[in-house]
Amino acid sequence: MTGQIVVGTDGSAPATAAVEWAAEDAAHSGAALKIVYVHEPWNSLVLLSGTGEENGSTEYGHRVLAAAAQRARDHAPDIKITTALATGAVVERLKSESERADALVIGSRGVGGFAGLALGSVGLGLAGHAAGPVVVVRAPARTAHGVIVAGFDGSEHSQVALEYAFARAQQRGSRLRAVYAWQMPMLSPYALGYSPLLRSVFAEETETARRLLAPYREKYPDVAVEESIVCDHPVRVLSDASRQADLIVVGSRGLGGFGSAVLGSVGHGVLHRAHCPVAVVRPRPDER
Ligand SMILES: Nc1ncnc2c1ncn2[C@@H]1O[C@H](COP(=O)(O)OP(=O)(O)OP(=O)(O)O)[C@@H](O)[C@H]1O
Ligand SMILES: [Mg+2]
Repeated sequence: MTGQIVVGTDGSAPATAAVEWAAEDAAHSGAALKIVYVHEPWNSLVLLSGTGEENGSTEYGHRVLAAAAQRARDHAPDIKITTALATGAVVERLKSESERADALVIGSRGVGGFAGLALGSVGLGLAGHAAGPVVVVRAPARTAHGVIVAGFDGSEHSQVALEYAFARAQQRGSRLRAVYAWQMPMLSPYALGYSPLLRSVFAEETETARRLLAPYREKYPDVAVEESIVCDHPVRVLSDASRQADLIVVGSRGLGGFGSAVLGSVGHGVLHRAHCPVAVVRPRPDER
């Protein structure tokens, strides 16, 4: 634990929602908040600014940071807030910030990009790549549900996701909805018609999910847990669950997929389809 939450902002509406979320998270966890704007000297804003290269866009950055700090203060008056204007490539700079942060928070989209996309290049470049949890925020929360959803499949990454989710739920006094979505193994049509076999698959999956959850229930006895063990595609189950949640937590990799993929298909799918902020969590080198 570094005692610091870092949020990246470019002044856009989703980034402002990220600042609000990060300020509240810092207040809940007792962490300090660091707000970072990354100035890319080659960015087109420089060309458009017309007020002389460097000045034009660092001035924009300073204004963005001042407004973000004010917004954070309004949301969480008691937290410690610092701001930093960094220079370089946004993804690289925020990635290195994540090494000294309990979590890195960003908006789903920014000021640029193609309007139809659910996720900008910064989220794509950071989720599964940054050192610790990356929280992607789309819009300000309208309703508080008092629920955190965590998806788990028994993989190492999903265990770190459960740990992150239980800790957040404890800090906020939220309920935790633990989702274990599994899919029917490829059985022959003859076997599928044989219901005792189906029943045993159901029973085994339920047993596995309960066994995986047990250590966290024991470590966080105050967190009310709702088990959701379902036979369906995890992206569908998790994005549906996100409608009634304040945060959804997934591991950056699961059990399946390609060995080289840094972000698994479930994390990818949830980032694109969730209706609430998404935390993508991976083990830090010292947690492995
Ligand atoms: N210059 C920056 N400094 C700090 N954080 C940034 C910066 N640019 C983007 N971010 C963070 O990343 C989030 C997503 O922005 P991103 O740039 O990925 O989306 P976009 O601008 O819509 O698309 P594009 O990928 O075309 O830039 C922002 O909400 C913000 O949190
Ligand atoms: Mg951008």
